[in-house]
Amino acid sequence: MSIQSVRGMPDVLPSESAKWGYLEHQVRQLFASYGLVQIRTPIVEQTGLFARSIGDVTDIVEKEMYSFADRSGESLTLRPELTAGVVRAAIEHGLLHNQTQRLWYQGPAFRYERPQKGRYRQFHQIGVECFGIADAMMDAELIEITEQLWRRLGIREALTLQLNSIGSPEARSAYRDALVSFLEQHRESLDADSQARIDRNPMRVLDSKDPNTQQILVDAPSILDALTDEDRAHFDRVCTALTEAGVPYVINDRLVRGLDYYGRTVFEWTTTQLGAQGTVCGGGRYDGLVAHLGGKATPGVGFAIGVERLVLLLETLDAFPADLERGCEVYLMLQSPEAEPALRRLASQIREAAPELRVMTHIGEGSLKSQLKRADKSGALVGLILGEDELRTGQVQVKPLRGGETQTVDYADAVAYCQRLRKAQWII
Ligand code: HAM
Repeated sequence: MSIQSVRGMPDVLPSESAKWGYLEHQVRQLFASYGLVQIRTPIVEQTGLFARSIGDVTDIVEKEMYSFADRSGESLTLRPELTAGVVRAAIEHGLLHNQTQRLWYQGPAFRYERPQKGRYRQFHQIGVECFGIADAMMDAELIEITEQLWRRLGIREALTLQLNSIGSPEARSAYRDALVSFLEQHRESLDADSQARIDRNPMRVLDSKDPNTQQILVDAPSILDALTDEDRAHFDRVCTALTEAGVPYVINDRLVRGLDYYGRTVFEWTTTQLGAQGTVCGGGRYDGLVAHLGGKATPGVGFAIGVERLVLLLETLDAFPADLERGCEVYLMLQSPEAEPALRRLASQIREAAPELRVMTHIGEGSLKSQLKRADKSGALVGLILGEDELRTGQVQVKPLRGGETQTVDYADAVAYCQRLRKAQWII
C-alpha cells in the first residue's frame, strides 16, 4: 500500500503552483509599494503562546490545535495562525522599542478542522502586522491595501467588506453584562457549545455557526451601543477614511472574529462565490496583545488572507492570466547531434542577455517534428532550430510559435530577438 498525504493537507502540484507564484508576485509588489518588510517566524511555537494570545475559550485553542510533546517533554504546537508568533518575535528581538514596524509574512498554518472545499488542516496565510501606530488611519490603510490587492487581481467586485468595532476592554466589559443577561433568557434554546460559553467567554457565542443560535442572536444587544467616546471616535475615523478612499463597507455589529486578542476595529472580506467558506481575509486591531504577551504596551493591527481561498476565488472567476500555463518563452531544438555544443552556448547567451526569460533546450533524441510538438506544448513563444546548414553558416532558425515568419539569422540577432520577447510579468 502506498503512503498517502495527511487528510486535509493537500499538495500544490506543478499545474497549480504557477497560480500561487502569480499571487505571491502581486502581493510582494503591492506590499513593497506600501513599505512593508517581510518577517519569517518558525512553524512551531510553545503551546502557551497560542493559548495566551488567541484565548483559551476559542474554537482554535479548544479544538483545533496540533499540539505535541517533543522529546524533552515540552508542549509545542504547529501554529494555527501567524500573528502570535510575529508578536513573540517582535518582543523577543526588541523590534518594538521606540520604533514602528510594518511587517508582512506568508506561510503555512495548521488547524484540525473538518476538511471541505476552502477549509483545510494545513492552509496558507499571507498577512500584515503593524506595530506602534495607534492612529485609526493605520486600520484604514491596511484595509486599503487589501482592497488594492483585489483590484490588481481583478476580483474586487466579488468581495464585500464587513466592518465592526468591538471597542476597548471597558466597552466590552459593559457589553458582556448586557449580552450575558440576554443569553441567559435564551439559555435553553442555544446550542451546547454556546451554553457552555455564556459564563466563560460570552462574546464567542456571537461566532456560533448554529443556525438556531444565529436566529436568537438577531435580537441580541449591539456592541456598537456600548462603545466609549474614544472607541466611537476611532471607529468613525476608520469609516470616514474608507469613505474618502472610495472603499464601501457594510457595518456588521455581530462580527467579533474567532480570536480573543482583538479590540476596536475588526473586519472581514467575504464572498458569496465559495459556498460556506466565504471569508477570504480577516483582521483587526489588537492594542493589548503585546503587553499581554510580556512586551511593553504597543498598539498593533493586522490581517491575514487565506491563500487557498483566494486561489479558489480566482479560479471560480476565471481571473488568472491566460499565459499562466506557459512553461517557457524560448525553446531550442536541434536537427543533428553535432549541434549540441552550439545549442547550449546559444541558450546560455540568451539567459545571460535576458535573465527574466525562461529558456529550455531540447534534450535527447527526437525528430524535428516531435521537438516542435514539445516546444508548442511548453507554451514557448519562439523556437530556435540548429541544423547542419546553420552549424556551417553560424546561424540559427528563429521560428515564432504563435504566428509569424521563420527567419534564419546570426546568433547575435537571435539573442536580440529573444530580448524583445514579452516576458511573463508574474514570474518570481
Ligand atoms: P483568521 O480569520 O483565523 O485570522 O484567518 C484568516 C484567514 O485564513 C481566514 O479568513 C481564511 O481565509 C483563512 N483560513 C483560516 N482557517 C482556514 C482553514 N482551515 N482552511 C483554509 N483557510 C483558512 C487569523 O488567523 C488572524 N491571525 C488574522 C490577523 C492578523 N489578525 C490580525 N493580524
